[in-house]
Amino acid sequence: MTLSHPSVNPLCALVMAVLLSMLLVPSLFLNQDQWDKHLPTVEQNSSLNVKFDPKATKLTWDCQENATYGECVLIHKEKGQIKKKVKDKECQCTFQDCSLHGGVTLTVEVNINQRRISETLVYLNPGREGTAAQNFSCLIYNADFMNCTWAKGQAAPNDVQYFLYIRDSKKKIERECPHYLKDSGTHVGCHLQDLSGLTSYSYFLVNGTSQEAGIQFFDSVLLLKEIEQYNPPNNITVHCNESHCFIRWEKPRTRKTLSIREFQYQLDIQRQSDTGSSRNQLIVVSGDMGNKYSFPRPGLRAKHTVKIRTADARKAHWGAWSQPAEFGSAEPESSLVHVYLLVVLGTFVCGLTISCLFKRFLGMHRLFPPIPRIKDKLNDSHQIDHQQILWEKFAHDVGKGDKEEVLAVEEVAEAPANA
Ligand SMILES: *[C@@H]1O[C@H](CO)[C@@H](O)[C@H](O)[C@H]1NC(C)=O
Ligand SMILES: *[C@@H]1O[C@H](CO)[C@@H](O)[C@H](O)[C@H]1NC(C)=O
Ligand SMILES: *[C@@H]1O[C@H](CO)[C@@H](O)[C@H](O)[C@H]1NC(C)=O
Ligand SMILES: *[C@@H]1O[C@H](CO)[C@@H](O)[C@H](O)[C@H]1NC(C)=O
Ligand SMILES: *[C@@H]1O[C@H](CO)[C@@H](O)[C@H](O)[C@H]1NC(C)=O
Ligand SMILES: *[C@@H]1O[C@H](CO)[C@@H](O)[C@H](O)[C@H]1NC(C)=O
Ligand SMILES: *[C@@H]1O[C@H](CO)[C@@H](O)[C@H](O)[C@H]1NC(C)=O
Repeated sequence: MTLSHPSVNPLCALVMAVLLSMLLVPSLFLNQDQWDKHLPTVEQNSSLNVKFDPKATKLTWDCQENATYGECVLIHKEKGQIKKKVKDKECQCTFQDCSLHGGVTLTVEVNINQRRISETLVYLNPGREGTAAQNFSCLIYNADFMNCTWAKGQAAPNDVQYFLYIRDSKKKIERECPHYLKDSGTHVGCHLQDLSGLTSYSYFLVNGTSQEAGIQFFDSVLLLKEIEQYNPPNNITVHCNESHCFIRWEKPRTRKTLSIREFQYQLDIQRQSDTGSSRNQLIVVSGDMGNKYSFPRPGLRAKHTVKIRTADARKAHWGAWSQPAEFGSAEPESSLVHVYLLVVLGTFVCGLTISCLFKRFLGMHRLFPPIPRIKDKLNDSHQIDHQQILWEKFAHDVGKGDKEEVLAVEEVAEAPANA
């Protein structure tokens, strides 16, 4: 017995030491960790079996008895953390649609009998890097139509084919593009003629197939209001009185009926006779001003045109210009020129007649010496040319008279001189 004691004691001490160290290590971890985590071994077990359904942006896990509190966290590269509280007795979280092509990290945390259990899942874009559609963009135009375009990924194999799916945010009804735009067989765009099923935020997914490699997807959540380009306003009319011109128009038709306040307009008023566009004015009129604009009638009453385009009241994302509408008709101006020319012509003809009569009178009365000055003017063609040049210059200065009208004057002026 006495012999056995010393031999047993070292063995016991060793076993004790090993046991102690084994107990101490977890307890040390426990000290470092939060105190509410009593059993780290359970925590390390991935007992929740978390699954992610990207189509529904939904996290699900195995339901646990006595789970009291739960939270889901989605970590998005651009948007950061998005947290959701788990509803009582539920073992799922549904996030709002968000783009997933950059990959997301998802975490579920639940408390079971005062123990916190958390599990993390990383969702990655499957497929080869650089194969996804790039430069994706969509445009709504003419109220009912939408065009989306994209380009082939840089690393996409030649046989790649892309497909576009669009789903609404509420009922999550998904539909494939009805009419693809193709570039040598590859889908690179989509034309839609019916936007009725889409919600203000809609989810767009472009995935693809290839025999050579897995194709990554591209996805995006677009606010339809932001991709809509408005038509020019309807029924543009211009009325001028003696002092003012008054422009009126109607708001364009849009995808959703909007109040007049949600628009702004830009007016481009130009003098049509001007060669350079230096004289045009760009005027912005907000939609709540009643879709009208009046301004003092231009003094010279030259022909003007106005074009109008539309944008969202908050964003100067301008649509296409309307057809130019003419106003401030050139009629009064040209008739003025005519009157002026008639007066000038009349005076000239009168002058000629009088001088002819005077010449005859002089011929009849040869007794009197001739008056050289008047004779010279009539006989010397150089003198007449000079006169014509003066006329032409005068007509030009008088104002904007057309060349044809000046030429008409010349012909008439020449006729008596030649005769
Ligand atoms: C923890 O994991 C082990 C093995 O990985 C397994 O045998 C055990 O059942 C798991 N415990 C729970 C509570 O899921
Ligand atoms: C749930 O809680 C009840 C009462 O607190 C307890 O009896 C039961 O063992 C718990 N179940 C689990 C799986 O922890
Ligand atoms: C995509 O857009 C980028 C920048 O906007 C441009 O440099 C690139 O050429 C575009 N790629 C294609 C294939 O159009
Ligand atoms: C949209 O696509 C259609 C079909 O290719 C085309 O005719 C139309 O001009 C495009 N419209 C715009 C605004 O890009
Ligand atoms: C692309 O996405 C749609 C909609 O989620 C799916 O039905 C289709 O199978 C996917 N195609 C590929 C090649 O992943
Ligand atoms: C505006 O034009 C449309 C057709 O473009 C016409 O049906 C409508 O009656 C016009 N409205 C007014 C007030 O002139
Ligand atoms: C011309 O119209 C403007 C605005 O429409 C008005 O203020 C002005 O009194 C009118 N002038 C005449 C002479 O009718």
